[in-house]
Amino acid sequence: MSGNPFFPLDEMSSDSDDTQVMMIPKVDGAIYDQRRKLAGTMVDYKEMRMRYSCAIKEVRTKFDVLNSEFNVRFRRNPITSISSRLKSSASIMDKLDRKGLSFTVENVENSLYDVAGIRVVCSYVDDIYGLASALAKQDDITVIREKDYIKNPKPNGYRSYHMIVSVPVFFSDQTRDMAVEVQIRTIAMDFWASLEHQLKYKQEVPDQRRIVEQLTECAEQIADIDKQMWQVRRQIEATEDLPTEEEVLLEKLRRIDIAINE
Ligand code: GTP
Ligand code: MG
Repeated sequence: MSGNPFFPLDEMSSDSDDTQVMMIPKVDGAIYDQRRKLAGTMVDYKEMRMRYSCAIKEVRTKFDVLNSEFNVRFRRNPITSISSRLKSSASIMDKLDRKGLSFTVENVENSLYDVAGIRVVCSYVDDIYGLASALAKQDDITVIREKDYIKNPKPNGYRSYHMIVSVPVFFSDQTRDMAVEVQIRTIAMDFWASLEHQLKYKQEVPDQRRIVEQLTECAEQIADIDKQMWQVRRQIEATEDLPTEEEVLLEKLRRIDIAINE
């Protein structure tokens, strides 16, 4: 049998023949200890990723709830899509490296705030602020940092509302406060950011300067269109006729039947 060079004992214990379990590993005690420690670290790391993944679920649910509530109250969904991602191990290593920190669970939890990320895409700019403040107000949410790249766009034209929040996650034996990065933006801002993001991964783009300029121009136009769309929606809402008592009752009855997003 070819033994597991990493953990000889464990591989043997998974063997169906129990009489082989007692075989003494042919590795030096110090090496064995080192491997056991490394395996422990790997398990801790995996548990850490699980905690971040659960934190994403918590915050995602909060946005789902806000969307459902809004849908029933105003018959409109402020959120068009929610996506999430857990930072890859390679990116975590890179970022710790750039900060001059070693790759440990403590360093990840104490120094990185974007291991868990959620992106919320809305139709209108006012929904971004509505959702951000509704999240910040929740009792179990602590806002660690906020960056308003809508009021203060980046020089390249990037716009979005960024929050780093801490959320408690309840496990069987402990409660952990986990950091989650939240990005809230409009569909148009998201469209722009995904195209601009592609540029970062292109090594040699001919006439890069012109492309950057074009993107910045697009960002300005998108911001104008977002503003106009929001104003048009408000005008439409403001001119809606006052309903009769009968219409109010019918509307309430209709709302009962609205499908609640699951
Ligand atoms: P990172 O170290 O990159 O996480 O930046 P930071 O800690 O200064 O945070 P910031 O809030 O500025 O940006 C966090 C995230 O927002 C990035 O990882 C991107 O997903 C997004 N982002 C920020 N700036 C840009 C940009 O100019 N273009 C695009 N496409 N995305 C951006
Ligand atoms: Mg980041």
